[in-house]
Amino acid sequence: MKILLIHGPNLNKLGFRDPHFYGVQTLAQITKSLNTKVKKRGHSLESFQSNHEGELIDFLQKEGQKADGILINPGALSHSSYALKDALLDTGLPCIEVHLSKLFEREDYRRKSVTAEACELMIYGKGVKGYREALDLLLDVIEKKRVILQNQVIGNPLDHSLSPDLHGLIYNEIGLAAVMKKRVVPLDELKKVINDFRKNKGALMAVTLPHKESVMEFLDEIDPVAKKIGSVNTVLNKNGRLVGSNTDIVGIEAALEGVKIKNKTILILGAGGASKALCYFLKSKGADVLIHNRTHQKALDFAKKYKATAVSLEDLNPHDIDVIVNATPLGMYPFIHECPLSTDFLLSKHTVFDLIYNPEKTLFLHRAESVGAKIRSGLLMFVAQGVAQVEKLSERKVHKLSYEKYLRTYL
Ligand code: DQA
Repeated sequence: MKILLIHGPNLNKLGFRDPHFYGVQTLAQITKSLNTKVKKRGHSLESFQSNHEGELIDFLQKEGQKADGILINPGALSHSSYALKDALLDTGLPCIEVHLSKLFEREDYRRKSVTAEACELMIYGKGVKGYREALDLLLDVIEKKRVILQNQVIGNPLDHSLSPDLHGLIYNEIGLAAVMKKRVVPLDELKKVINDFRKNKGALMAVTLPHKESVMEFLDEIDPVAKKIGSVNTVLNKNGRLVGSNTDIVGIEAALEGVKIKNKTILILGAGGASKALCYFLKSKGADVLIHNRTHQKALDFAKKYKATAVSLEDLNPHDIDVIVNATPLGMYPFIHECPLSTDFLLSKHTVFDLIYNPEKTLFLHRAESVGAKIRSGLLMFVAQGVAQVEKLSERKVHKLSYEKYLRTYL
């Protein structure tokens, strides 16, 4: 089998140019070590470097027909070349993109890759080791020894979701051969999507609004905590058996770290799937939970089930409340000018937590901050619940990096 090793502009200067970013090995040295690796596995390697976009495309068009897989570092073309992306797609070959440097710690324009959209995976920030990791994976995929896990996040809408980005960051960090893609799912398609996921051996499904509750009836098993909460945000496919769990609770705990909860009065706005996890957590920590929902009957039903108190805002004295949590989608991208509560209600004694993470600081949090309240964004929760999902999938501990910092690139 034949692997194409392709390098874009300026990479002929490897070893000399910006060694603090790209390391000290020259392109010839890297190529040699990869060649040895490919040969050991009984295959061949053809390498090509050019500073010209057109030449790279010509090479792909010609040699792509005779090859079985591609390893590419397109250099700065990654961040802009749709033509190269098209050429990669056109080969129909499995392709892995590699970058030597930590793109997310570099200049703004380097933090996204358009060409990676044509690849199974992007590995970055690991120097030459990343090339070896990519090559092993590519050969495993071609030799059908390994598949790249196809994970999904489902919901409706999903414009705001950064789950593919967060998961991508974590997978790269821990060397997990997986990608996550968005899938917008209307309610009447949920059953089919779940069954397809089971059949196609999907590995992990992250579930978001409005499916956290409705998904439960299509699963084979639900872990006891998720069952108690009554909402699932994580589905794992264990050899065709779909197991639901809830990592929102881990996220809530992380986001509320340091906030006093025991014997405090906490007002939750919204009575959906996220509110359930929230209420379960807050009750378990000894809080007095008040629930408000636009449709009061929904708040009443929720209150009965979760031992909270359904309230109308008109009957509440803000001075009696310690913490306010927004668990509605009001203010979430793209509707960033919406706010679940009027500023008149907010006091400096409040701690205000918004479950929304896109934008990081919602209009609600801006207003809370303007009256001197302490604020907590949903970004920490989002990261913690995502890390917990990958831990469940990989069955290993994921070292917590400051993923929030990288995610801000997308916000
Ligand atoms: C690079 C990153 C690109 O942004 C840059 O233009 C390079 C090297 C990397 O391997 O880190 O030339 O692709």
